[in-house]
Amino acid sequence: MNRARSARDPRRPRPGGRARSLLRGRSARALALLAGCGLAVLVGCGQGSEADPDAALIQRGKVVYETSCSACHARAPGEDGPVGPAITGSSMELLRAKVLRNEYPAGYTPKRDTQAMVPLVHVEADLPAVHAYLESVAK
Ligand code: HEC
Repeated sequence: MNRARSARDPRRPRPGGRARSLLRGRSARALALLAGCGLAVLVGCGQGSEADPDAALIQRGKVVYETSCSACHARAPGEDGPVGPAITGSSMELLRAKVLRNEYPAGYTPKRDTQAMVPLVHVEADLPAVHAYLESVAK
């Protein structure tokens, strides 16, 4: 009798209620932790790309140059290659004309008068990267 009454005593914290509030406390901490991690990741990413936004572009251009151009042009783009001439310092306009259409910009004097290079249209999207790479090694 007595025990049953005390079990219903409103002053005694109910086991269920206590567990729920504990859970609330824990999940709030977990959420705060998650938010903190997310923020750290965001800040980390921001710093990574802000540190040198050109580095990734240059690196991409180097890969494209080595896979698509260095069979004919020298591995070091500032030197004459076995077939193609040195191409550091090429403007974006020259790159577009030569790589995409096998043409030269109006008034441009080609370094070689051969017609051995073929258009390489598949690198169109990567031309800015190739340009950035050529600029980076020209310095
Ligand atoms: C099949 C060999 C070959 C490949 C591959 C090649 N080139 Fe060439 N490239 C040449 C040759 C040879 C010339 C000289 C002109 C000619 O014969 O077409 C040349 C000329 C150029 C020129 C003009 C240079 C000047 O100022 O007169 C540019 C710019 C150029 N290449 C960029 C590239 C880029 C960028 C790539 C890679 C995306 C590439 N080439 C891939 C052979 C090649």
